[in-house]
Amino acid sequence: MTENDFLPGAYQEFPLSGKVTWRAPSNIALVKYWGKKPIQIPANPSVSFTLDTCATTTSVTFAKKEGNTDFSFDLLFEGKPKEDFKPKILTFFERILPYLPFLKAYHFDIDTSNSFPHSSGIASSASGMAALSLCLMDIEKQLDPTMDSVTFNRKASHLARLGSGSACRSIDGSLVEWGMHRNVPQSSDLYGTEYPFTVDSVFKSYQDTILLVHKGEKQVSSTVGHQLMKGHPYAENRFQQAIQNLDRLKPILASGDLDGFIQLVESEALTLHAMMMTSMPYFILMKPDTLEIINKIWRYRQETKVPVCFTLDAGANVHMLYPKNFKDNVQRFMDDALVMHCENGQYIQDRVGKGAVKIND
Ligand code: DP6
Repeated sequence: MTENDFLPGAYQEFPLSGKVTWRAPSNIALVKYWGKKPIQIPANPSVSFTLDTCATTTSVTFAKKEGNTDFSFDLLFEGKPKEDFKPKILTFFERILPYLPFLKAYHFDIDTSNSFPHSSGIASSASGMAALSLCLMDIEKQLDPTMDSVTFNRKASHLARLGSGSACRSIDGSLVEWGMHRNVPQSSDLYGTEYPFTVDSVFKSYQDTILLVHKGEKQVSSTVGHQLMKGHPYAENRFQQAIQNLDRLKPILASGDLDGFIQLVESEALTLHAMMMTSMPYFILMKPDTLEIINKIWRYRQETKVPVCFTLDAGANVHMLYPKNFKDNVQRFMDDALVMHCENGQYIQDRVGKGAVKIND
C-alpha cells in the first residue's frame, strides 16, 4: 500500500452534526522505534504490547459550518480548555487534511481525558493521537459507509502515525508491529498491524507495572530524541540491530521463552538509553531511582527466579513486565522494595490489552 491508498473517494453523505467517542490505549515497545525520516517514517521497525488501563478517551462533536477555508475546533483536556495543546492538533490537522478533506467543513469540539494521572510522565501522545484519529475515522465512515473494518483500522493507524509515530501501534491489540521488515508479512512503514506470528498464551496476559519515578517534564522530548539519531555515530548499527531483534523475537514469542524475552527486552531498553547518552548533545534520562529499581529487579530475579524484567521509554519511569501467574510475588516485591523509589509512591498496574474501542454514548 502507498500513502495514496489512504486518499478518500467521493463522499456519499455529509451529516450536519454528530458525536463520536473512542478509547485508545497506550503501548509499550519491546523493540524500540528511535529515529525517523520525514514524514513520520520510522528508521527501523518496532513492536509493542498494547496496554489496557493506561488509555485516552476522546469525544469529538462535529457540526457543519459555513465556508471551508479554515480549521475550526475547541479543545477540552480533563474537562478544561487547553490552549497549549491546540498548535499540536493544528499541525496534525494540516498533515492529515489530504486524507480527510472534510476536516475544514466542520467545527469540532474535542473533549479528551486520560486514565492515568495528569503529568505522570506517561506518554499520552500515543493514546491521545490514536483516540483522536479513531474519532475522525468514525466521522469519515459516516461520510463513506461502505468502508470495511480493515481499511478503517489501517487508515486510523496511518493518521495516528502522522500525529505521533508510536500512536500507530495503539489501534489494535495485543502485539503490534510497525515498520517495513522483509520477514514480517503485511509490515509497513505507514501503519501498525497486529503481529502476524504465533504468540504463546503467556504473553497474552502479560502484566506491566509502571513505576512513576519522575513525573515532571521530560528533559528531552521524543521528537527531539529522534532527531538525535541523524548523524549519530551508531545509528546504522542500531537500526540493523532492531531489524535482527524482530527476527530473534519470533521464536521467543512463539515458544514462550521467558529468558530470551527478558534478555532481548532489557537490551532494547538500555540500547535506547545508550543512544541518548552517545548522541550530540547527550542526555541521561534515567534518574538514580531508575538505576536502583533496575538493580533490584536483577537481584530479585536472580534470587527468586521470578521472570520479571524491565523496559524503559525515553524517560526515567520503569515498566516492569512479567507473566500473570507471578502477579502476587511481584506485588509483594513492589510493596517491600520498589514503591520507595516512585515519586509520591505512585505506580500504575497495567496489562496487555486488546486495542481501542468505540464508546457508545
Ligand atoms: C522511546 O512516538 O513519542 O517510546 O513520533 O516524535 O511522536 P514522535 O515520537 P514517539 O516516540 C516514542 C519512542 C519510544 C519508543 C517506542 O515507543 O517505540
